[in-house]
Amino acid sequence: MRVPVGVKASLFALAIMGSYTYFANSIPQIESKPPQELSLEGGNVTPAQLVKAGEEIYKTKGTCEICHRIGQKGTRAPDLAGIGSRAATRKPGMSAKAYIIESLLQPSAYIVEGYPPIMPAVDKPPIGLNRSELWALTAFLESLGGTVDVKLDDIPKTAGAAAGGGAAPELKIPGDPKSGEQVFAGKGTCIACHKAGKIGASPVGPDLSQIARIQTPDYIMKKILDPASVGTVAGFPPNVMPKDLGTRLTAREYTDLVAFLLTLK
Ligand code: HEC
Ligand code: HEC
Repeated sequence: MRVPVGVKASLFALAIMGSYTYFANSIPQIESKPPQELSLEGGNVTPAQLVKAGEEIYKTKGTCEICHRIGQKGTRAPDLAGIGSRAATRKPGMSAKAYIIESLLQPSAYIVEGYPPIMPAVDKPPIGLNRSELWALTAFLESLGGTVDVKLDDIPKTAGAAAGGGAAPELKIPGDPKSGEQVFAGKGTCIACHKAGKIGASPVGPDLSQIARIQTPDYIMKKILDPASVGTVAGFPPNVMPKDLGTRLTAREYTDLVAFLLTLK
């Protein structure tokens, strides 16, 4: 099978970037700079190349590893070992391929037992994968115990449309991140339970150092005002995060705090 030079070059670049960043970023930090946009449309790639490209996306731009592990339990999200075959058993009459694609584009269409519905649609900001990237990622997930048979045409044409060329459009929050950091460390008492980049160290709640890379502003805002409304992060106790933050903070403090959290990437 012939592979256009452009495709080879970008797969190679992805592979190199991945191997440099893999060790430095294994747990749970991942590469802070997303790799360049992957485009495979119109290219002939072998299943093996596609799986390799998908694995790099899984570890880098996809940010999947911040929540998922392969062959390891007890993190924010299900272990993806064996998903290539398990996917076929999730919904009666749905193929493994169709289930995997649905899991990426509409994560709450099926909720894995024991987990909250917190996975964001990965073709939308902040993750914002394009169609080629979704294609490669699906091939990688199929390769975990299943058969790699996904074609580009299996990925809906509308998928990735909101990705905006890979760069997630910045949501403008009118708050001041510097003041928000003070709320985080002071009146908000967040620091008693959370780490956020250079500040804090408490393991009571999840590390928020990369929260803006994996979650939407909507989720972050709801989590502060009404923590139970968006479920409990797996591996952490429910009802520990205070419920009255919305009444304790002024609107100004809340907006500043959200602006600060959105800088955590
Ligand atoms: C913010 C955390 C988070 C991120 C980031 C995330 N996921 Fe998930 N994912 C979850 C949670 C929680 C579930 C289980 C709840 C559900 O079914 O929606 C899940 C479910 C899944 C499932 C279904 C698993 C099964 O056993 O049925 C797949 C497949 C999956 N994720 C793949 C991915 C991939 C690939 C990425 C990266 C592009 C990713 N996820 C990013 C949290 C996340
Ligand atoms: C007494 C401890 C405690 C305090 C104080 C606290 N949290 Fe939490 N927080 C938790 C725990 C435990 C979880 C995980 C369980 C859950 O989802 O409710 C959590 C979850 C979160 C999440 C979701 C993280 C994810 O990975 O999805 C966000 C965002 C968050 N907290 C922000 C804040 C902010 C902002 C403050 C300060 C205004 C704060 N928390 C104060 C304990 C706390």
